Amino acid sequence: MSQVNKPTILVTGGAGYIGSHAVLALQRAGYEVIVLDNLVYGHRELVEDVLKVELVVGDTSDRPLLDQLFTTRDIAAVMHFAAYIAVGESVVEPAKYYRNNVSSTLTLLEAMVAANIKRLVFSSTCAIYGEPQQIPMTEAHPQNPLSPYATSKWMVEKILADFDLAYNFKSVAFRYFNASGAESSGLLGEDHNPETHLIPLILLAALGKRESIAIFGTDYPTPDGTALRDYIHVTDLASAHVLGLEYLLQGGESQAFNLGNGSGFSVREVIEAAQQVTGREIKVVERDRRPGDAPILVGSSAKVQQILNWQPQYADLSKIVADAWQWHQKRHG
Ligand SMILES: NC(=O)c1ccc[n+]([C@@H]2O[C@H](COP(=O)([O-])OP(=O)(O)OC[C@H]3O[C@@H](n4cnc5c(N)ncnc54)[C@H](O)[C@@H]3O)[C@@H](O)[C@H]2O)c1
Repeated sequence: MSQVNKPTILVTGGAGYIGSHAVLALQRAGYEVIVLDNLVYGHRELVEDVLKVELVVGDTSDRPLLDQLFTTRDIAAVMHFAAYIAVGESVVEPAKYYRNNVSSTLTLLEAMVAANIKRLVFSSTCAIYGEPQQIPMTEAHPQNPLSPYATSKWMVEKILADFDLAYNFKSVAFRYFNASGAESSGLLGEDHNPETHLIPLILLAALGKRESIAIFGTDYPTPDGTALRDYIHVTDLASAHVLGLEYLLQGGESQAFNLGNGSGFSVREVIEAAQQVTGREIKVVERDRRPGDAPILVGSSAKVQQILNWQPQYADLSKIVADAWQWHQKRHG
């Protein structure tokens, strides 16, 4: 492959779910990659044995380590996935989230500015919008984060805007809807501990690793009464990150983009898709609505399609579930 001239990208959180898929996409696009991950939630073997990429085990709050990396390695840009991600935990332990997601990110950004590395792709979230006021949600939707997790991402977006003004620091913030699925080869996939995401929870139930799957709310104003979410295949997320990076490397201005499928699937539809794909009966338990859960969350990705020319390749729910199932069988079967 003629990949000799592509620069080196530092991927924080590259041992995690989405970060590891982005590393693979970067490799396939010909980039050199260094992963920085503290392995609190990441998986060493995915980086070292599957991706075969250099892993620096360390924390984004470690300024001397960052300075050393940025001065000794020829890093052109950073993809920043490292964060804590559990919304519920953030409500009971807010300081943990502000410290890791905001304060450590600030340390990373300051180290980047000091090293004159001023391009960053950032993992943001649709949760910064809060209660939906219109569907599909565009980037212009009012922002009203409802948890410390969402607020932490919102704060970083504000910091990035200020860094652009002060230091000409350019960033692309991707506001993901529900990241889901797994690399089609089955080599990478989702393995959070504790797991809070719907598709892996359903598949763990299909594997007998959980007794049942709970549906929280069956009386929403949706066609089947269960909540509708926008599931985006992680490989589509990863390809958008490469496009976002290249946009910045070519001198693009700072942007925030939604990344979603553009269509919503209900909890029951996802469970049905999983029963079809796995051929297994999955025990369902119906529970009350959870506070703070919106009936419908669906994003418009028109802006990223227009500016980055991104198109989701795996928008089909069965494909998303089938890829996740392949991974789960391998990992837990
Ligand atoms: N999964 C989703 O649906 C979703 C939706 C919206 C946004 N996001 C964002 O995408 C990013 C990746 O999410 P994920 O699902 O892959 O999570 P993940 O937990 O699988 O990956 C995060 C990785 O970051 C590492 N990490 C955390 N804090 C660190 C630190 N201070 N220094 C170094 N490494 C650190 C963890 O060990 C882990 O490997 C996060 O920023 C998350 O907020 C995820």
